[in-house]
Amino acid sequence: MCGIMGYVGDRDTTRIILEGLAKHEYRGYDSAGIAVIKDGKISELRTVGRVAQLAEKVAAAGLTGDIGIGHTRWATHGGVTETNAHPHISSDDRVVLVHNGIIENAREIRAELEAKGIKFHTETDTESAVQYLGYVYDGDPKEAIVKLTARIRGAFALVIMFYDKPREIWVARKGSPLVVGHAGNEGFCASDPTALLEFTHDVWFMDDDEMAQITREGCRFFDFSGAEHEKASMHLDWDAAMTNRGKYPHFMLKEIHEQPDVVAHTLLGRVADDAVDLSRELSWTPDEAAQWKRIHFVACGTSHYATIVAQHIMETFGNFEIRTEVASEYRYRNIPTGPDTLAVFVSQSGETADTLHAARLAKSRGAKCLVITNVRGSTIHREVGDALITPAGPEIGVAATKTFTAQITILTLLGLYLAKLRGELDPNTERRLVSALMDIPGKQAAMLDREREIELLARDFADARGFFFIGRGIAYPPALEGALKLKEISYLHAEAYPAGEMKHGPIALLDKELPVVALVPKNELWEKTISNIEESMARKSPIIALATEGDDQICHYTRNVIFTPETEPELFPFVAVVPLQLFAYYIARQRGCDIDMPRNLAKSVTVE
Ligand code: M6R
Repeated sequence: MCGIMGYVGDRDTTRIILEGLAKHEYRGYDSAGIAVIKDGKISELRTVGRVAQLAEKVAAAGLTGDIGIGHTRWATHGGVTETNAHPHISSDDRVVLVHNGIIENAREIRAELEAKGIKFHTETDTESAVQYLGYVYDGDPKEAIVKLTARIRGAFALVIMFYDKPREIWVARKGSPLVVGHAGNEGFCASDPTALLEFTHDVWFMDDDEMAQITREGCRFFDFSGAEHEKASMHLDWDAAMTNRGKYPHFMLKEIHEQPDVVAHTLLGRVADDAVDLSRELSWTPDEAAQWKRIHFVACGTSHYATIVAQHIMETFGNFEIRTEVASEYRYRNIPTGPDTLAVFVSQSGETADTLHAARLAKSRGAKCLVITNVRGSTIHREVGDALITPAGPEIGVAATKTFTAQITILTLLGLYLAKLRGELDPNTERRLVSALMDIPGKQAAMLDREREIELLARDFADARGFFFIGRGIAYPPALEGALKLKEISYLHAEAYPAGEMKHGPIALLDKELPVVALVPKNELWEKTISNIEESMARKSPIIALATEGDDQICHYTRNVIFTPETEPELFPFVAVVPLQLFAYYIARQRGCDIDMPRNLAKSVTVE
């Protein structure tokens, strides 16, 4: 939600800010803006729309600066207008800042300052922060930020410039992500570490209640009382090239194609000789594992669906009591949680506010907490304790694809490892599943070879009114994910149901304009799902089937069949998700949608 970039150094400031903002665009893209200081004067430009439009304005104005800050917005308070776009500047033109988060007591501060005669210009919560800074600033940026952070409530990552400090940028964080970097005589800050990769791989992730001063000479860190402290940097092992689209027209398509490699990397070092071993990352003892009576999986969106896959797989071989919960609900319910609970938080970004708050709650209740995230050093990684990192590399497309696959891979390994620690895992099951997991990259690659077939099918259905996705057992969670992908990027209504539940209500929606995507792998539930296909056909719904290779009977029901390679029954989601992602991708493409940056969405949801 909103992307921030800041630069101090001798290179072309506006170019670096604009390129950095382009890398952040997936975090918010309804408006963008930049501010620079040159010759002791703050100048800024803002626009509704994308960073490319801002770049045109910057070029036309010939804007340059010695230091600069920029912002790409996902609106929370105040409509999408140029006035509401960041950066915001104080009425006295002495302070300018960009903000990611929500200032909860903005109205109160605004009323207080307006009563003192300060004029506000925007509808945003952010303006209260900059006007407050302008009001208290007396030449000492640190002291002004100490006063500000004591006055505002809510979540914020703030990047601030003061008109009379043309060689330094200040940042402050509480609740919203912010990372700082330094290389040679250049300093940087960003919401997302991937924006810094071309400059440095050693970064400081800002903690809550922490501020920093960034200059050409280096970075200094302080707490919100103004006391200075040392801070260790963290090394990022991502490659800058990973943030490019390469030969693909969209990041989403590139990321779909990366999945075989992602599975292989996720298994690397975690399985050997058909056995799983997570002891390098988790120092759990058998006694400890035995005391966890229940497992809570907590996540949002696609990550939540990955945990439902895990639940279905783990129930086939372990004696677990598992709950899968959406983080925004988990927080506010009184779900028994304590030392006998293993609470697993899954978040690609590691910054999702709902998941982070849920993790804090579980931790405060004494649960053993584990995080699964794709971003080393993310807030949830630093706060939660035990962690398994998915090595999927940066995911730029707003619709999650390869991180889902990485998550279900690691969750399957986690389930096996846990069952083994508790002495509940049949060695044959371990061998069978680990060996089948090793085959997944090849099977996903085979699925990708059918891309053209799926594209043609998508073309036939691109004008549908909406879609119904059905599946039973292990086929249900990928149905959920397939429907989510379609809604996110094509804006079509898509609903997933356990196939047997359809007749209890949703079947009323079916007609010839509502296709049903039936996930019908050849397993013990095949016949039951076929009955549900028949019920749908009786209501004239066109059927698209995802069936197992060699299942000739499926062709009696529909000619729209995507065949998936045979795999162990539990691992069907691994092969099902690839064609479903491609189907959504090509429907969206056919409909001319903005695939990598779908409307109203942001990659990392850092507000509740
Ligand atoms: O970063 P997270 O995994 O915590 O994000 C959770 C959801 O916001 C995310 O999965 C969202 O649903 C995606 N847009 C899915 O494509």
